[in-house]
Amino acid sequence: MNKVEANLRPATGNAKLNALVNDIATLCQPDRIHWCDGSDEEYAALCELMVKGGTFVRLNEKKRPGSFLARSHPGDVARVEHRTFICTDNKDDAGPNNNWADPSQMRDTLQGLFKGCMRGRTMYVIPFSMGPLGSKIAQLGVQVTDSAYAAANMRIMTRMGKKALEVLGDDGDFVPCIHSVGAPLAPGEKDVPWPCNPDQKYIVHFPKEREIWSYGSGYGGNALLGKKCFALRIASTMARDEGWLAEHMLIVGLESPKGEKTYVAAAFPSACGKTNLAMIIPPQGFEGWKTSTVGDDIAWIKPGADGRLYAINPEAGYFGVAPGTSNKTNPNAMKLVERDAIFTNCALTDDGDVWWEGMTDTPPAHLIDWTGADWTPGCGRPAAHPNARFTSPSTLCPILDPAWNDPKGVPISAFIFGGRLSHTFPLVFQSLDWDHGVYLAATMGSEATAAADNQAAIRRDPMAMLPFCGYNMADYFKHWLGLKNKIKNPPLIFRVNWFRRNPEGKFMWPGYSENMRVLTWIVERTHGRGEAVESPFGHVPRFLDLKWDGLSFDKHKYAQLMEIDRGDALEELEDQKDFFAQFGKRTPETLIEQQLRVRKRVEASQEVWKPET
Ligand code: GTP
Ligand code: SPV
Ligand code: MN
Repeated sequence: MNKVEANLRPATGNAKLNALVNDIATLCQPDRIHWCDGSDEEYAALCELMVKGGTFVRLNEKKRPGSFLARSHPGDVARVEHRTFICTDNKDDAGPNNNWADPSQMRDTLQGLFKGCMRGRTMYVIPFSMGPLGSKIAQLGVQVTDSAYAAANMRIMTRMGKKALEVLGDDGDFVPCIHSVGAPLAPGEKDVPWPCNPDQKYIVHFPKEREIWSYGSGYGGNALLGKKCFALRIASTMARDEGWLAEHMLIVGLESPKGEKTYVAAAFPSACGKTNLAMIIPPQGFEGWKTSTVGDDIAWIKPGADGRLYAINPEAGYFGVAPGTSNKTNPNAMKLVERDAIFTNCALTDDGDVWWEGMTDTPPAHLIDWTGADWTPGCGRPAAHPNARFTSPSTLCPILDPAWNDPKGVPISAFIFGGRLSHTFPLVFQSLDWDHGVYLAATMGSEATAAADNQAAIRRDPMAMLPFCGYNMADYFKHWLGLKNKIKNPPLIFRVNWFRRNPEGKFMWPGYSENMRVLTWIVERTHGRGEAVESPFGHVPRFLDLKWDGLSFDKHKYAQLMEIDRGDALEELEDQKDFFAQFGKRTPETLIEQQLRVRKRVEASQEVWKPET
């Protein structure tokens, strides 16, 4: 091994891992290899190294102890969906929802890109577990990366290091996750604070071999490969083959004043409110209700021996959107990030703290913005990047659910799907049955956010999984439909929309804590109690079916929030046809039938359907 110090190699007899490390070191030519043990000392040393190198700014120890700010390259700020590839033998198996590339051609491309790509850098070997260590539902991975930033973040986001290596043992299998920022250093060349490759980015998945290769980016889901690449894209193919679900869902516990605990899982597209709902605080009028967080982004869900579905959060931390987070919108997240957090692309205050749009009503008089430039209110630029994020360990979540680390997972009583939709869709509606629910989830649309580089203003985002389903989405629909035969009492399925706007462009629903009013109705429904009436879209609560204590909300406004305009609904149904048409014959008949039934119900309805007040 040329130029490689292998002295830090621990005694692992795992042949696959040793071969991987040898092969990647030979290909990428790093100067050093560091096997991550996951210790506090190692994390501190990584952070110190990044402070020295300029990647991290240490924040004010009094204001934000143990915390750091990183500013990325301005061209490396979000997931790169157009550079994300699924390499299946047949193009059709990747489906129109993915960029496909021929596996052997892609292997050649990657060999070229990775050749010598770690010169001048340290290669970190990061053994990690997605899910509780040693749990039957958990899966192991090993990320090999030349990014200290990725290594530090993986320490927070996964169960990483020595313990994961022990679970792996000599014979265990793992998903290889190979990552490089794609910025080798010439001898003596000074490094930059955020190395990446501005010209070439590749986020590549080989589902058959269960392998991930990522090149050119150091940001979020592009670089923390346990998250979207493994826990969603690769895991979704595992789930298809093995009869479970890997979903872009939060998991939250809701305990009634009587002590009845119900868990629900909710899928919203990126930057559409999962972290907020996962950490929801009951509003005024809901005294005695308790909420608790299991996860805020990803759920692995399996049928249990009792025929119910059980969910675990495979992650060990949160990589949450910073802008918009405040003591008003998400006080639990504000407490979460009080210490030991990594902030990326937030603004820096003059006293060494962080700030972002929405944190306070009045911005500080002066800031250093996310690009490192001086910033004053009214300068016309955002201070934090819209996709600025915090990385925080789950253990610091003030309402962490006691079962968050339980290998069995928690039983799920309802699935909730919600897009960011200004028009057409009411606050909440419940599917008539499982198939109708899968149809409602599969046809979900959402308006664009800053979490990815996609250009569409609005797009179909089935189950909030469009960028994350590692195979043909039509087969994924089939998988969802088939699941009902594997479970008893399947969870009820709901659609919600916190984002409907009035003709003046204002949100019609106050949202955040007030979403509890919708959640408790959902909980009641799962216990066979809450009342509802039938709308063209499904079961909906009347005004009197929701609990309004502590909020004065006009019942006529409620009727507007819940109305279904026949013309808008028919237009929506027309548009869905094109979406299903993309998948050709692979589209399950059941979904086409469901669509026809909805059309019939819409056609038979009034011009403007409203629930009675
Ligand atoms: P990823 O981490 O990207 O997967 O997304 P996420 O779904 O966890 O995103 P997050 O919870 O951070 O979403 C933040 C965005 O949702 C911000 O723009 C919030 O203002 C908005 N948001 C969250 N809840 C509500 C709500 O109840 N009403 C309204 N109007 N906006 C909300
Ligand atoms: C998302 O975009 O859905 C995220 C952030 O959760 S990232 O990890 O960057 O994908
Ligand atoms: Mn996400």
